[in-house]
Amino acid sequence: MAKKDKGFLSDRFGRRISYLRISITDRCNHRCTYCAPIVEKFKKRADILSFDEIVRIVRLMAEMGVTKVRLTGGEPLVRRGVEDLVGMLSEIYGIEDLSMTTNASLLSGLARGLKQKGLRRLNISLDTLKPGLFREISGGGELKPVLLGIDAAIKEGLVPIKFNTVLLRGTNEEELADILDFAADRMITVRFIELMPMSDRIDWKKNYLSIDDVLKRGDIMERVDTSREPERGSTAAYSLPLRSGRGNAGFISPMSNRFCGQCNRMRLTSDGKLRSCLPADMDVDLKAALKAHAGDEELTLLIKKAVSIKPEMGVYTSTGEDTEKGMIHIGG
Ligand code: 5AD
Ligand code: SF4
Repeated sequence: MAKKDKGFLSDRFGRRISYLRISITDRCNHRCTYCAPIVEKFKKRADILSFDEIVRIVRLMAEMGVTKVRLTGGEPLVRRGVEDLVGMLSEIYGIEDLSMTTNASLLSGLARGLKQKGLRRLNISLDTLKPGLFREISGGGELKPVLLGIDAAIKEGLVPIKFNTVLLRGTNEEELADILDFAADRMITVRFIELMPMSDRIDWKKNYLSIDDVLKRGDIMERVDTSREPERGSTAAYSLPLRSGRGNAGFISPMSNRFCGQCNRMRLTSDGKLRSCLPADMDVDLKAALKAHAGDEELTLLIKKAVSIKPEMGVYTSTGEDTEKGMIHIGG
């Protein structure tokens, strides 16, 4: 089937939108300090997008040039039937890259089904390899099932795998080189991510560790080749080769260095708000339109509207008190 001519999604600054991140649930079986707020306000079941609604939105956006979809949460694997959603999305014409960000705690039992239904690859949150510290950071989560999940993902070929490692001063700071080694042994790329002020359970100022500071560490410099020109990703990310020749390390600096100029993404929240920018509170309520039985044309206009209000550059103003806007709802 040829692409229907709805035109490409471009914003006011000429950025072409090709990437949609979808939070399929605001629930999570972990409570990471940097993500989950103290007081949880879960969305009502009736407000969460159904699989059919998600598929409809993705189909419309694919017709307008979105080629890449990532499922996030909360924790996407806690949503019942997630493999079926993956199956439905992987069949949409134009979606070439379907991936997921997960904490991997439920992955060992689901990896095979996800692969069979068309999931390509995974990003896995991993901030420490120490069981005690893992419990502390994740609010009571266990490391063991996560490691089993990682093994299962490798076995099923859900690759390339990337680890998301949030940089936490004085917490996992001393362990970053070990995480790099653990990952390199498994052909996994680590992406170090600067802490964003999105949760009220963690003091951002005390815990923030910049990429620049990480690159000053001897144990990291021993492993990462900073003499080479970094490869830039589409947003606040670049990667550098490992000296061992076993892949790259990624550096994501949403706080210290932003490349909003190349941002190609939109976000869909679990309750159907199409959000144009992670830190900016600007979104369009697609769930309300769906509830009012909007037709495809109306939805297409709303999607275009959401893209048209994308700011030139996002500014982090939230300190996490506003639990509606915390990371667990937007999905990173
Ligand atoms: N700062 C940086 N990254 C975050 N994530 C969640 N909350 C934050 C935050 N406050 C990232 C984690 C996780 C993904 C779902 O979002 O890396 O892997
Ligand atoms: Fe859950 Fe991931 Fe948030 Fe941790 S970072 S609470 S695992 S959604």
